[in-house]
Amino acid sequence: MALPEGFLEDLKFRNPVEDVISSYVSLKRAGSNLVGLCPFHNEKSPSFTVFPATRGFYCFGCGAGGDAITFIMKAENLDYIGAVEHLCKRAGMEMPEDDHAGRRGDSDVKKARVYAANRDAARFYHDMLSKPEGQAGLAYLRSRGLTDAVIRRFGLGFAPDEFTLRKNLFLDHMLGLGYTEKELLASFLCAKSQKNGRLYPIFRNRVMFPVIDLTGEVVAFGGRVMDDSKPKYLNSSDTPGFKKSRTLFALNYARHACEERLILCEGYMDVIAVHAAGMPGAVATLGTAITAEQARIMARYTKEVVIAYDMDDAGRRAAEKAIALLDGVGVRTKILKLNGAKDPDEFIRKFGADAFRLRLDDSENQFDYRCSVVIASHDLEDFNDRMACISELTALLSTLHTDVERDVYIGRLADKLGVSRDSLKNDVTRARKRQEKTQKTEQTRRQIQKTAGYGDRINPDRAKFRRAASAEESILGILLLYPELLSETAGGAEGLREEEFLTAFNRRVYAFLLSCTAEHGRFESGYLGEVFSDEEIGRITGMQVAHTQLTRNDMSVIRDNITVLREEGAKEKQKSTDLSADDLQNLIRSRRGE
Ligand code: UTP
Ligand code: MN
Repeated sequence: MALPEGFLEDLKFRNPVEDVISSYVSLKRAGSNLVGLCPFHNEKSPSFTVFPATRGFYCFGCGAGGDAITFIMKAENLDYIGAVEHLCKRAGMEMPEDDHAGRRGDSDVKKARVYAANRDAARFYHDMLSKPEGQAGLAYLRSRGLTDAVIRRFGLGFAPDEFTLRKNLFLDHMLGLGYTEKELLASFLCAKSQKNGRLYPIFRNRVMFPVIDLTGEVVAFGGRVMDDSKPKYLNSSDTPGFKKSRTLFALNYARHACEERLILCEGYMDVIAVHAAGMPGAVATLGTAITAEQARIMARYTKEVVIAYDMDDAGRRAAEKAIALLDGVGVRTKILKLNGAKDPDEFIRKFGADAFRLRLDDSENQFDYRCSVVIASHDLEDFNDRMACISELTALLSTLHTDVERDVYIGRLADKLGVSRDSLKNDVTRARKRQEKTQKTEQTRRQIQKTAGYGDRINPDRAKFRRAASAEESILGILLLYPELLSETAGGAEGLREEEFLTAFNRRVYAFLLSCTAEHGRFESGYLGEVFSDEEIGRITGMQVAHTQLTRNDMSVIRDNITVLREEGAKEKQKSTDLSADDLQNLIRSRRGE
């Protein structure tokens, strides 16, 4: 998306980085900078630093870094344009519209139009509930126990059965509001008939659940049939303003209520029932299994997630996946056991909100759950099966970190399995020893790789060209800090050219500095988000920060480093024209006739 000249300057001027960040992190002055605990990794002493002068932030602990835009991208889990919009709203600025570029370049419809269309559609569906054509929908929602207040809060609605009615209610309404055919198609509100090329509404004769994102926009819908026909739920596909894998239903409400825990449900109705029962921390994925992105989003808002899935086979598998993903981002998980009901909605309807709350409080932790799954999958009467079960449990027990935990569970499981505590304990000790050994080998391997410079995902060439890379990074660090030195660095016959960089990532950064300057007159770090990932921006900010702390940052330092870089470049060239030592030896051998 091409933003107007000076727009990012203005945006960042009106959103001082320290102000933006201080609503997320409590910051303390430290000289001319501010420091706090990094919101992107766990730490006890502050290594997260905000630099008002360069309008950036950098965490010396985890390498996250960037400017106000990058910060919002990470903190609110928005993409680049989303973060720009967020800051626009924050400062009360108008978001510039772009003529052609869609949000993700996959559509030429403006995202703002998709959102507007969705909002108007949501209003239309909701209003239907008070019209004759929508009475079936209202009756259905009420039959599911929803009060008018809940219906209003979630903006539920009804999409009329237009084919049977032989009326174009939705289409006429939307066209009447000025939406074009293209916009309605891009918003996943309408489709085009293959037969006669006519536009028709995708959602018909369904009760409608709008999905609202964290900035308050309606981004998608789920629509449920009112009988047993298929598919039961229809969900919006990804649109220019919506990515299913990054969205959670009701997180717009839950995020304000969930310091303690989030409740992860399977469906729309469950979430609404749990909210209606007075627990606003419920969210759901949108008809798909949980993704790593969604796990990461949840980790921003809470340290504990209670998984409230159906406990059929599919639900169990889904729960396992959720546990693994949430585990990976440092979120504790517990499994909610609902006896006598298939899902939270049904449970609350049958046994009431209080019963549900009690369940929530003693929901099984992940470990109990895993054990019970292992036990349930074996026939303990059968000798071989029982041995297999014990060995699986031993492996599981050996993953517990503290002696106390292990003792507690060993005691419990030994009783349950009818084996002696001591023998189970011995098995676990042996399993732990084995694990420690493999862990150590793994650790050593990683350490070796790290020192050899492998595993640098951002700039893998760094290991091969150490001296050149550090010269490159000095050049870039200074240029990022003083973009006005770029013309002297790159200009003239002796100017530094992009091809002279030996490492690919640094070359990309330099190329970006050049193209950004050519395009906008001046490099501005706000543009980085358009091209580089969060992690890459962190690395770039790191180069800049390294030089903030040096006193000599001038053209002569750049020149010295260009000299180093050229020396290294020449060496490389020499190498590729020289015969390698091996080649040479082979040549000599073949001469000798060996
Ligand atoms: P369920 O079939 O468990 O439905 O699907 P539910 O949530 O209990 O809904 P009710 O109580 O029957 O109304 C769980 C979730 O899976 C997705 C939906 O997001 C649903 O809420 N789903 C299900 C679909 O996307 N499509 C389907 O056809 C069915
Ligand atoms: Mn249900």
